[in-house]
Amino acid sequence: MRIHWEKSGSSSKRPFEEGLFMKNPFRKDFPIFEKTGVVYLDSAATAQRPLAVLEAEREFYENMNANPLRGLYGLSIEATDAYAEARDLVADFIGAGSAEEIIFTRNASESLNLVAYSYACNFLKSGDRIVSTIMEHHSNMLPWRMAAEKTGAELVLMEPTEEGVFTDEEIAGKITENTRLVAIGHVSNVLGVTNPVEKIAKRAHEVGAVIVVDGAQSVPHMRVNVRELDVDFLAFSGHKLMAPFGIGVLYGKKELLDKMPPFLRGGEMIDYVTREGQTWAALPHKFEAGTVNAAGAHGLAAAIRYLKQVGFDFIRETEDRLTEIIFEEAEKMPYMKILGSPNPREHSGIVAFTLEGAHPHDISSILDGDKICIRAGHHCAQPLLDYLGASSTARASAYLYNTEEDVRFFMEKLKAVRGYLGFGD
Ligand code: ALA
Repeated sequence: MRIHWEKSGSSSKRPFEEGLFMKNPFRKDFPIFEKTGVVYLDSAATAQRPLAVLEAEREFYENMNANPLRGLYGLSIEATDAYAEARDLVADFIGAGSAEEIIFTRNASESLNLVAYSYACNFLKSGDRIVSTIMEHHSNMLPWRMAAEKTGAELVLMEPTEEGVFTDEEIAGKITENTRLVAIGHVSNVLGVTNPVEKIAKRAHEVGAVIVVDGAQSVPHMRVNVRELDVDFLAFSGHKLMAPFGIGVLYGKKELLDKMPPFLRGGEMIDYVTREGQTWAALPHKFEAGTVNAAGAHGLAAAIRYLKQVGFDFIRETEDRLTEIIFEEAEKMPYMKILGSPNPREHSGIVAFTLEGAHPHDISSILDGDKICIRAGHHCAQPLLDYLGASSTARASAYLYNTEEDVRFFMEKLKAVRGYLGFGD
C-alpha cells in the first residue's frame, strides 16, 4: 500500500511508505495516518482514535440513540444498558470496588473540579493544609487554589529535584499532620516521570488526608489499580485513551462520594423533588446531572477493549524504544536539552525539550512543514516550567501506534530546524 499525500517543503523519504508502515501491527487500525500522512507525536495532548472506537460511536448513534436513563421504551433502554456496561468496564479496568464508584464527567479537569467543589470546599477549613506539587498541570492546581481561597485552608506545593523526583524528605516534610488533602499527577505531562503515588497515598493516609490522583497521563499508558495504589480519587480523560472527546472519569471511594453533596444540579440526579426541597439520587447518578454522554461512554468502552487487546507491555516497550531513539539522536545535538530524567525509560513516551536559539513555537511550525505534529508552549504547567527556568518548551509524545520511522524522521527534521533559523550546524 502506498500513501498519497502532498509534500510540503521536504524531499525526504516519508515514514509511511510501503513496508515501513506495517512495522507496528496496530498502526493500520488508525485511519487518520493513511488519510493525512501526519507524523503524530502529540499523544500527551490527545490520542488518535482506532477504527473500533469510531465504529462504536457510530454504532451508538445508528442503533441505540435515545436519551438514556429516562425512556421506558426499548431504544432508550438499550442506550441505558450501553452506558451501564461502559461503567462496569471502567470499574473493572481500574480495579474499583464497584461501578457506583465511577462517575462519568466531561474530562479529567471536570473530575478534579468535582472533587474540589464537592469535597474540598465542604470538608476543609481554615488551619487545614492542601498539598499539591509544582509539577501539576493547571487542572490539578487551580481547583485546589480555589478550594484553599474558599475554605481558608493553606495550599502548599511539593517540589521535585531537577529530574522530577520527590524525595522522601520533601514528601514527609510537606504532608504534615494538618494536611487533609493531597493532589498529585500520576505521570507528569511535561517530564513524563511517574510519581510514587502508592508511597504518597500511604503518607497522606497516615496524617488523615485524602489523596486525589490526576491519572490523565498514566491510565492510557500503564496498568492503574485504584485499590492497589489505595487512592481516594482518580481522574482521567477518555480522549487521551483513544475515546471520543467529551467523556472523562472520576473514581472515588464510595464512603467519600456518599457523603459529598452534588457538584451540578439538574435532571436525573435527584431521588425526589418537592416545592420545598429534594433528595439526591444514589451513586453514581447524584454526580451526573443532565443528559449524559452515553455515546462517549460507549466509545470509551471500545477504547478500553482495544487497549486491552494491545496490552500495556506492548505500549511500554514501544514508548520506551521510541524515547531511547530520541535520546540517542539528541546526543548528537549539543544544543538540544531534554527536560527531566536522563533515563529515557522514565519518560512514559514524553520528551519535552529546547533547542538553543530556537523558540519552541518556531520548532513546531517548521516541523509542521513536514507534517510532524508536536506540542509547543507551556503545556498548561507554567509553574513547573518557571521552576525549571524555562518559559516554554517543545514536546514530542509517543503512543502505541508510533513507529521507529516516525521518531527517526522527526529527529532528522529536528536537526535541520536551526539551519532554517540561520545557525550553521
Ligand atoms: N493536558 C494536555 C497536554 O499536556 C492537553 O498537552
